[in-house]
Amino acid sequence: MIRNFDNEVFVLDTDNTTYIFRVIKTGQLEHLYYGGKITVEEKEDVNCLCEQHAFAPGCSATYNNDDKSFTLDDIRLEMSSFGKGDLREPFIEMVHADGSRTCDFVFESAKLLKAKSEMKTLPGAYFPDENSKGEDYSNFESIGKEDVELQVVLVDKSYNQKLTLIYDVFAHEDVITKRAVLTNESDEEIRLLRLMSNQLDFGSNDYTFTTFNGAWAREMQRNDRRVTSGKYLSGSQDGVSSSKANPFVMLYKNGATENTGECMGINLIYSGNHLEICEVSSFYKTRFLTGINPTGFEFLIKSGESFESPESVMTYSDKGFNGMSHNMHNFVREHIVRGKWKNKLRPVLLNSWEAAYFDINESKLLKLAKAGKDVGIELFVMDDGWFGNRNDDTSSLGDWYVNKKKLPGGLNALASKVKKMGLDFGIWVEPEMVSVNSDLYRNHPDWAMEIKGKPHSEGRNQRILDLCNPEVCEYIVKAMKEVFSSADISYVKWDMNRIFTDVYSAYLPAEKQGEVYHRYVMGLYKIMGELTKEFPEILFEGCSSGGNRFDLGILSFFPQIWASDDTDALYRVSAQTGYSYGYPLSTFGCHVSASPNHQTLRKSPLQARFNVATFGSFGYELNLCDLKKEELSEIKNQVETYKNWRDVILFGDFYRGRRIVMHGEHTDYRNEDVFGHGNINEWTCVSKDKKSAVGMIMQALVEPNKQYEFYKPTGLDEKIKYHFTNEGKRYNIKNFGDLVNTASPIHVKQDSLLHNIIARHVTMPGEREDYVARGDILVRGGVSLKQAFGGTGYDESVRYFQDLGSRLYFMEGE
Ligand code: DGJ
Repeated sequence: MIRNFDNEVFVLDTDNTTYIFRVIKTGQLEHLYYGGKITVEEKEDVNCLCEQHAFAPGCSATYNNDDKSFTLDDIRLEMSSFGKGDLREPFIEMVHADGSRTCDFVFESAKLLKAKSEMKTLPGAYFPDENSKGEDYSNFESIGKEDVELQVVLVDKSYNQKLTLIYDVFAHEDVITKRAVLTNESDEEIRLLRLMSNQLDFGSNDYTFTTFNGAWAREMQRNDRRVTSGKYLSGSQDGVSSSKANPFVMLYKNGATENTGECMGINLIYSGNHLEICEVSSFYKTRFLTGINPTGFEFLIKSGESFESPESVMTYSDKGFNGMSHNMHNFVREHIVRGKWKNKLRPVLLNSWEAAYFDINESKLLKLAKAGKDVGIELFVMDDGWFGNRNDDTSSLGDWYVNKKKLPGGLNALASKVKKMGLDFGIWVEPEMVSVNSDLYRNHPDWAMEIKGKPHSEGRNQRILDLCNPEVCEYIVKAMKEVFSSADISYVKWDMNRIFTDVYSAYLPAEKQGEVYHRYVMGLYKIMGELTKEFPEILFEGCSSGGNRFDLGILSFFPQIWASDDTDALYRVSAQTGYSYGYPLSTFGCHVSASPNHQTLRKSPLQARFNVATFGSFGYELNLCDLKKEELSEIKNQVETYKNWRDVILFGDFYRGRRIVMHGEHTDYRNEDVFGHGNINEWTCVSKDKKSAVGMIMQALVEPNKQYEFYKPTGLDEKIKYHFTNEGKRYNIKNFGDLVNTASPIHVKQDSLLHNIIARHVTMPGEREDYVARGDILVRGGVSLKQAFGGTGYDESVRYFQDLGSRLYFMEGE
């Protein structure tokens, strides 16, 4: 619900939160409150939330002479103009025709709308009824009845500029989105230097600012810092949203934990350069800003033209990080992801990349697909290497025609054969790129983003196509339409493997080169929009060297994104935990790969690799043809387990418990003071009706003689009785090394022929957990697991729990 009290006070309510601001005497907007739901019946109710000003502090500027009681530098502003005395980071910055940079936006009018206004150049959140196109997404009862959007118009009268702040309320998910549109109502052109999407000013500095940072193969590592005076910046200049700093961030009241305390989650529906700023002012007020990164950005706006900023998504919860995440998950699933795959179970896939890299051909692929079919795989994906002369990463991007040496019958023949096996068929493409060694580059060198005649910095031997040029976008759409319709293709992995350098568009004039980064993103969205409309049945998976472009902009078109090229089980626990703060499990691709792992060379048990990968859109990426019989039969069971539980995993409520903390992370987890935190990871997914749940624990390293462990689920129905079990497993006797000699009548040399023969016939029993208990007991008390191996003997009453030991637990309600 949104209320406008006499154009003076604005109150935005979701089911559990309230957001309030007001217009002050001089016309600026003062932010008053964002937090748990409060009751505002009349505008006077908020008087006590307003800062009381009597004088402006020394050495500060008052806005004007009519009111000397305050300075804009020490007030919580809803939006800060540059140049009128607020010395903190501004929301907007521009150069007027006379060269001045001062802006002065004050309130003019406000209106409420019953539907979300359309965004012109960028994707945004949506209310399902608007876009459902006949599909039944009609659970948003308020559409058409209640106001969902507030538009506040601010004007700068000195320069005839209009700034509209737009707020949309997603009541049931406790989400409010914010964005801004600048319209140049003057007769002259202006240069926009920054237009952020969301500003949040708070009166105190008792916050922690959390960002998710990393690198290629090390995405989404959580970093917390308590804010103190100064500025903390997180963002990207890569041209993409970047694995170095994801646009999703948290701001929480110091002391919050997974299940307690106040936490805000904030994200941006944008796939290009972004910036998040957390600043504590000289007066100990905290300002948060997010939006397009002003570095490298400048946009010329002619008289009468407008510029819209990306939409920022924010939520508040007083139920800790898990509460915040649930809001975000529900919101992304319901108001970001679109189309056929929105709430649909994802197929178990097998991807050819780590099985064969570029060395593929039809017979090899069919063998792999057949091995996949035998273990229950549903979708076979041919990754890179199938087109042009693509035998390594030095050539052929842009030449989207089949390599007939590798696939003599073309895509169609391969796809038909895969389909005949009973599998769906998927394909890899990287449409935004061109190899210097390609026909496309030879024919259209001006289509690549380059500064003509100047040396170019290289990345994976490829250049970025200039998506500022509509002709290039048309070419990509045409080329992809041809590929996608040339065979029965059910899935497309859309890759993008380089960061931006030497940014320049031959299509744009010199004075518009500051627009290239942003125009690229707009071009990309246009392409994605056209192709997803043309191929609504295809399941698209975004990818950018793993998670280099994992954001809500991509998810507005593609329902899932490959989370990381690194599938090492231990790393993936921390990365998937990282993603889970802001993104639902259905949106991240997770695969079981080979051991030793191709990125870390770490060895890990198949059980651990599966237990981690199962918490996401799941698949395999290894050469099944080379695996042992026992491994294949374990994989067959895994696939069956995933199929049985994927509805709970993909669309239930996800809870983080204890967390494994990686070397590069910096968090306050020790404050949470939970036994095992840091070394143990605990996840639980609970179905929406709370009748079933699946949980997982994993330990990083064995601690000697630490025998007892517990698993503590969260989110169960406290009144329901659950049957709690684990999977009955048997372990390879070789896992126990030469301890085999403690039981063998004859001496067995490790790894000898004899050892291998024994291992083929004798396996060690795994422990069984089997309880019936009410949800309140499980949630409050946890389950005391069987004693772990402690160097003193082993049988089925002992838990085999080594480095990277892990278990899945299943809870079925009566
Ligand atoms: C980078 C992706 O992240 C990988 O999964 C794989 O598709 C390669 N590109 C192929 O070149």
